[in-house]
Amino acid sequence: AAPGGERSSQAELLVASNRGPVSFAIGDDGELLARRGGGGLVSGLAQVVQDTPDGDGELLWVCTALSEADRRAARSAPGGRLDQVGFDTGGASVKMLDLDRVLFDRAYNAVANRTLWFVLHLLHSPSMEPSFGASFRRDWAAYEHYNSAFAEALAEQAAPGACVLVQDYHLTLVPALLRQTRPDLRIAHFSHTPWSPPEYFRMLPDSVAAAILQGMLGADRLGFLAPAWAAAFRDCCAEILGAQIEGDTVSAGGRSVRTSLYPLGVDAPELRDRASHPDVRARAAELRELAGDCRLVVRVDRTELSKNIVRGLDAYREFLRAHPEWHGRVMHLVCAYPSRHDLPEYREYTAAVQRLAAEIEDEFGTDTWLPVHLEISDDFPRSLAAMTLADVLVVNPIRDGMNLVAKEGMVVSAEGAVLVLSREAGACSEMAADALVVNPYDVTATADAMYAGLTMAPAERRARAGRLATVAGALPPRAWFGAQLAEIRSGP
Ligand code: G6P
Repeated sequence: AAPGGERSSQAELLVASNRGPVSFAIGDDGELLARRGGGGLVSGLAQVVQDTPDGDGELLWVCTALSEADRRAARSAPGGRLDQVGFDTGGASVKMLDLDRVLFDRAYNAVANRTLWFVLHLLHSPSMEPSFGASFRRDWAAYEHYNSAFAEALAEQAAPGACVLVQDYHLTLVPALLRQTRPDLRIAHFSHTPWSPPEYFRMLPDSVAAAILQGMLGADRLGFLAPAWAAAFRDCCAEILGAQIEGDTVSAGGRSVRTSLYPLGVDAPELRDRASHPDVRARAAELRELAGDCRLVVRVDRTELSKNIVRGLDAYREFLRAHPEWHGRVMHLVCAYPSRHDLPEYREYTAAVQRLAAEIEDEFGTDTWLPVHLEISDDFPRSLAAMTLADVLVVNPIRDGMNLVAKEGMVVSAEGAVLVLSREAGACSEMAADALVVNPYDVTATADAMYAGLTMAPAERRARAGRLATVAGALPPRAWFGAQLAEIRSGP
């Protein structure tokens, strides 16, 4: 029998992720304000929980407290069950784990975001950094504890035979840990990130690289966003664990685990409806007034190194230098959500983005023309408004699991935007035919693509945009989640 808890309070379906569907801020008079969490994972999953698929009973989402305000909220609810004390969790039952602050900082900031994220997105320069010494061993031990805390909470909350869907690089050890105590569960792991090739992944200490792969192979199914990421994961298993690979199945340590593809898309009708709300329209009107008659080159990102915002701005500058005929006729609107500012690399990166935007302004700006407008804020309606106005949408990450902005932008684009898309975004495996595909390191090619986008004949851009919007809506979150559930339930 399952350990702990009453049978009736246990869930048949559980989701585990570091960031939950809700995060908290402390208002002026000290009260807790709930807001939607950010990032691709939450955008995809938050919708799903609003209407748990038929017959599944209750869905329980297990996540961590990320800030002091989150910790206060978690402590105010018995067992961290936020839904039970009336917080707006967007329809989900949410258990928020209140972990020791230092342990969480080491697991989340030092290991997950500063090490694993960098390795998976090829952000380290191997000749310069990183070096894994004693402090990394200490941080890794915290990551192991953090994963154990999740595994324990899930083991306690899961009904016999329940399905558990574990998300992302924060929780790579959970599947194997959970299987040890609860072999009755059906366990899936989904990676919202890219995966790196073995020769790069192996820069991690050998024991750590092997632990991550073995931890994930504790699942019954492994999900990825794009074919290249699943293939890279299998290559890592072959090279580092000596696993056998047959088609999409990895066999190691007496277990065979299938890697499956679920290219997450957007719910097009819902997003279009959201974009037609008065708050978005009002912001679109403000932005239109700011831009005047200028055509708009738009981007929307977290302030994130892998998003390649600096090279994007550099490309825009090259475009303006090469095409004086566009001066006074175009504006670059950059919407950036503040992200991971506990890490110095992210603070420095944000400063670099601000510096470059200011340089462009100094070089080209006039009394009557604003060549670039940078907004660092987490105003989702404002970003959505920017996307509706885009003539060219720039999505040029160094690497990205999927990049939902490419899909959201094409679905809400009123003008039939031209999509300039990095070949290293997961979305490119579906959108290459109608996007202008760029090498994200090639600034000149990106500048040329901006120019090609701005000068494309209206009929062609509308035709391409229409096809891209169709692709973007092909696998909306509910279908994406439903397909994973169906596969995990269908057995080995
Ligand atoms: C990506 C990751 C998510 C993460 C999000 C935001 O989409 O795959 O797991 O939640 O970025 O990052 P953050 O560190 O703010 O949660």
